[in-house]
Amino acid sequence: MKTADLLIENANEIVTLKGKNHPRIQSEMNELGVIKKGSIAIKDDKILDVGSNLQYKAKNKIDAKGKIVLPGFVDSHTHVIFSGSREFELDMKLKGFSYMDILNKGGGIFYTVDKTRKSNINDLIEQSKIRLNNMLKYGTTTCEGKSGYGLNIETELKILKTQKILNDSHPIDIISTFLGAHAVPKECNIDEYVDLIINDMIPKLSNYAKFCDVFCEKGVFTVSQARSILNAGKKKGLIPKIHADEIIDTGGAALAADINAISADHLLRSSKDGLELMAKKGIIGVLLPATPFSLMMNEYANARNMIDTGIPVAIATDLNPNCWTESMQFIIQLACLNMKMTPAEAITAATYNAACAIDLNNHIGSLEIGKQADLVILDCPNYMFIPYHYGINLVDRVIKNGKIINF
Ligand code: NIG
Ligand code: FE
Repeated sequence: MKTADLLIENANEIVTLKGKNHPRIQSEMNELGVIKKGSIAIKDDKILDVGSNLQYKAKNKIDAKGKIVLPGFVDSHTHVIFSGSREFELDMKLKGFSYMDILNKGGGIFYTVDKTRKSNINDLIEQSKIRLNNMLKYGTTTCEGKSGYGLNIETELKILKTQKILNDSHPIDIISTFLGAHAVPKECNIDEYVDLIINDMIPKLSNYAKFCDVFCEKGVFTVSQARSILNAGKKKGLIPKIHADEIIDTGGAALAADINAISADHLLRSSKDGLELMAKKGIIGVLLPATPFSLMMNEYANARNMIDTGIPVAIATDLNPNCWTESMQFIIQLACLNMKMTPAEAITAATYNAACAIDLNNHIGSLEIGKQADLVILDCPNYMFIPYHYGINLVDRVIKNGKIINF
């Protein structure tokens, strides 16, 4: 009999998402490739086999009777490295102040920038590690993480170094994005700051990141500034991403298509034309429903329309001090209950399409032979329970790189 290191057997469902090597669109988002009464064999850090009734000799076995197995969640948009918290802003939001009102009063991002500049790197590592531990407990095995609470070269570097140290020491893989263009720091005017990003930050920091992102929004960075910054990033090998059309439509979706960004994120207010351009280029729309939820907006990105238009949709937490959740299960719940995605679409958006949004779908995001053995076992009888039974953590076990995580 063949041998494996770990055999997970008898699962009610194995949600494989097998069979595609491009971002999933339209009806492909509903094709989960579910295997009933399934098993997975793991050797070292890779998936050796997936199927029903696998016969393997294994040192470790897990009986997943009554449970389901999924690819580990991929959180493709986070601002996980920050110092402090902003719970007091809830009072302001309840009084009717908008996100931009709070930012313009010097709160919001600026409050967190001040705290993050003052933190030493060990403190930043300790605070951020707690969030990564929570993510892992809730089933996230890979995340993207952005800089952007530094807004000067030393602190942007400190954040990216923190991310590298945590990527090397924590089970979660963290893929870094340089987001120097998150806001304009008080000590600069906008033209000086764009110049600093292009001529100083990107050349010095590009080795620490895979992606470059810009908060392209009225009152923050214009489409033309975003274009210059993202093109400068591209020259240094950084793949573009954009915070686009979150508060008003500034043409961020069209810019994403024009410069071949890998994803455009938020997209609450994007125009029909912008979305059609994204669909044509296959640019992933990363939707972040916890952000409008935290802002009590009662309005969400139009996921149904985006899926119909042919945009490959991913979903993510946007974890940041304004929108603090580590739970991709909660994001799946919001995606279904508030954005009307089907449970299967939301699961695809939280795994395979999310892996595409960080250019890692050849390694993670589905349970297929040869892929990284990153998976979660959930204590529920079928995948439709994820959006149905909410407000609790359904995770039974997390397996990262083939190793069972002990909490
Ligand atoms: O994606 N919108 C810009 N950046 C974050 C929020 C950051 C913050 O408020 O601290 C976002 O929502
Ligand atoms: Fe964000």
